[in-house]
Amino acid sequence: MFKAKVYSARRKQLREMLSGGVVLLPGNGEASMNYPANTYHYRQDSDFLYYFGHDHDGLAGIIDVDEDKDILVGDDITMDDIIWMGPQPLMKDQALQSGTEHTLSGTKLADYIQNAISKGRKVHILPPYRGDRWLYLETLFGKNHGEIKQYISEELIKAVVKMRSIKDEGEIIEIEKAVDVAYLMHTTSMKMAMPGVVEQEIAGAVEGISLSYGGPVSFPVILSVDGQTLHNHHHGNVLQLGRMMVTDAGSESSLHYASDITRTVPVGGKFSARQKEIYEIVLKANMVTIEAIKPGVYYKDIHLLAARTIAEGLKELGIMKGDTGEIVRQGAHALFFPHGLGHMMGLDVHDMEALGENYVGYDETIQRSEQFGLAFLRLARKLEPGFVLTDEPGVYFIPALIDMWRSEGKFTEFINYDKAETYKDFGGIRIEDDILVTDDGYRVLGKPIPKTVAEVEALMNKE
Ligand code: GLY
Ligand code: MN
Ligand code: MN
Repeated sequence: MFKAKVYSARRKQLREMLSGGVVLLPGNGEASMNYPANTYHYRQDSDFLYYFGHDHDGLAGIIDVDEDKDILVGDDITMDDIIWMGPQPLMKDQALQSGTEHTLSGTKLADYIQNAISKGRKVHILPPYRGDRWLYLETLFGKNHGEIKQYISEELIKAVVKMRSIKDEGEIIEIEKAVDVAYLMHTTSMKMAMPGVVEQEIAGAVEGISLSYGGPVSFPVILSVDGQTLHNHHHGNVLQLGRMMVTDAGSESSLHYASDITRTVPVGGKFSARQKEIYEIVLKANMVTIEAIKPGVYYKDIHLLAARTIAEGLKELGIMKGDTGEIVRQGAHALFFPHGLGHMMGLDVHDMEALGENYVGYDETIQRSEQFGLAFLRLARKLEPGFVLTDEPGVYFIPALIDMWRSEGKFTEFINYDKAETYKDFGGIRIEDDILVTDDGYRVLGKPIPKTVAEVEALMNKE
């Protein structure tokens, strides 16, 4: 945990941002996998972590704006619990670690909430994203699912997004720790990407490195020679010369801050001319867009810079043609770059996505596009110092999409389909870094992970 004063200061700031009422932040419970006592790896709710810090089940937090008071809700454990889990700190001591003196038994929480409602006080909750939390809230509120929805508070969502979007020094240190573990995950993956190796051998090693540094992976490892499938969790291919292997993987620090890095390497450690040509396009898109990151710039404009860079590069190879501005305006490049340039990152790898992507990545000055490709951009709004975001352009050759667009006669003025067809066995390339927006520009977080052709080849061929 951070120091107690970090959590009390965050809650004070939140209370000052809200007009009144009481905020309820339920912590996550354990989630059963295949029978009740066999649970998934436990993951605390990120908003609870942000405001109260404790990382185990059985807790909730109350931030009472009207009474200017915060309460950690939960119960001291029993001897049965001690036998199975070992001794745990008393609730009063856990409350102090969260920066408050106030505790409430979990058995009294329903009364607290229903009492607040009966007095006409506003009760604020964030959007639940787990089925069991909906059931828990139904019990607490004494209301059904449909009735609970009225307590999801836009005022609270906006305040939490505003606070969590700006990372403080302690948070940046945590994220950087996670990126440094990702350095080890990715350099290991690169060295293992040799012919005859099965993807799962590398995926297992990569995940093991994250665990061995104390945190789980920040999302299921994406590792495949079929990099054209953006979130590919199948790890059954045997690596062969001539293929590119995408590794998109990150770690969680012990306080649950994420990293999210992608590297793509040629199996065997030497780029072919064809691989290098596509790789250099993606690398350029990654590098020119990182250099464009600074406060006051819309990330949508930086995404469009990536799109133009990719379109230009593909034009030079004869895969695309025509006016670059028109290609990007009409969205033809999205055949090869069908996703957004990046997203916020913090306690969640796609930070705060549970609160609603549009609250995080868009605001009153910028609306989400409906155009294929651009519509998937998670972060579009103006950058501010303290944002941490990913920069992850890619070029993919998705056979089914090429076939579909070709059969529809889509963008024939911009796409040379005969040429694109010859890349159907190529796969995809993505390069992703984690970036802090500083007062006057950007900082790429963590120890630099080999990225240029020369750096990747040098690492993969090191004895
Ligand atoms: N790890 C998924 C992503 O890069 O957003
Ligand atoms: Mn990623
Ligand atoms: Mn990402």
